[in-house]
Amino acid sequence: MTKKKRLLSGMQPSGALHLGNYLGALKQWVERMDIYDCYYCVVDYHAITIPYDTEQMKTRIFDATVDYLAGGLDPEKCVIFVQSDVPEHMELAWIFNAVTPLGQLMRMTQFKQKAQHAAAKVLGDSNASGNEDDDVQSDLSDAFDTDTTGDDGLKVPLSGIGKINSGLLNYPVLQAADILIYKAEVVPVGEDQVQHIELTRDIARRFNNRFNDVFPLCEAMLSEAPRVMGLDGVNKMSKSLGNHIPLNLGRKQLTKLVTKQAVSDSRRVTLEDPGVPEECNVYAYHKLFSTEEEQQWAHDGCTQASIGCFHCKKAVAKNINDLLDPIRERREEILKSPDTVNDILAEGAKKARAVAQETLEQTREALGFLGKPR
Ligand code: TYM
Repeated sequence: MTKKKRLLSGMQPSGALHLGNYLGALKQWVERMDIYDCYYCVVDYHAITIPYDTEQMKTRIFDATVDYLAGGLDPEKCVIFVQSDVPEHMELAWIFNAVTPLGQLMRMTQFKQKAQHAAAKVLGDSNASGNEDDDVQSDLSDAFDTDTTGDDGLKVPLSGIGKINSGLLNYPVLQAADILIYKAEVVPVGEDQVQHIELTRDIARRFNNRFNDVFPLCEAMLSEAPRVMGLDGVNKMSKSLGNHIPLNLGRKQLTKLVTKQAVSDSRRVTLEDPGVPEECNVYAYHKLFSTEEEQQWAHDGCTQASIGCFHCKKAVAKNINDLLDPIRERREEILKSPDTVNDILAEGAKKARAVAQETLEQTREALGFLGKPR
């Protein structure tokens, strides 16, 4: 029997998962459990790079794990664990920092987006409170005056960079460590993570060339819905933008959210105005959640102005609800015995750590250190 390839993926514990997380990642995690040797992680150390309420962290980790299980992960078929339970990730991340060019990190689209956001906030706050660190900031801005514009056309906001925490910059280095400490070759993620997986390959290549052949070159695996749009129809679905559909809503709440907040084609001002379904986000949702027959119904109803947008949204909400019903049922079951969630994570940490320690030993040896610390 040939050995199964190893697969790893993870999500931040940022509260209830949303439909983008499900269709972009979790659904294919479930589908791959029988094919690959799967490791699924709740990446709590990644989540500390932005401000958060420490009181909430344990609950967020618990909720994310419950969503993994409710979404269909089976702890008998895969390893489910929390990143901070396997501290070897952090050690490997530090080592990887030594083979990662600063310029490449500064060109990561997600870093630039987060940096812009953080800088806008920092600058806003410091303008309001008098900016005593102006000199430090402009020194740092000069030091970072590099070309950070890539294909995405985004620039790092140099005027605010001095105050952004460096965890935001090094975030994908830790992600590379999450993947490579298990020597994973397959990484199922949404489209926004592809650049980080490419960086992971570069890090593996650079480490192998400089020290020894320890790490495989991994591949991103995309689902059929790698970029689910938010209810606003403009941005990718994301909790931080508030345009998301959480997986843990009840049927009524979900129908209300979709019918009230999903933006439809603005051409349909009155019932008599026809629309262009190909440019309507609600029709895009029909493409994801409805049968071909219903898609046709929505298409014809829109172009012929024979149905209203509310009607069209209600139909799609019903289909989303039908998709989520089994997840809701499993969540209810799991919540009847919350202690088992902790047991699953403890067992997962044990299995994950055994693999992580072995890789770290090889890595330390490759560096010329003792494989096992004294
Ligand atoms: P995170 O927590 O932002 O998202 C988790 C997963 O959900 C996918 N996703 C989406 N897919 C489609 N449409 C959307 N609107 C959408 N929103 C989110 C993401 O692409 C991701 O797959 N850096 C990662 C977490 C991470 C990781 C790893 C992933 C840390 N270490 C190692 C893979 C391997 C992140 O912040 O994902």
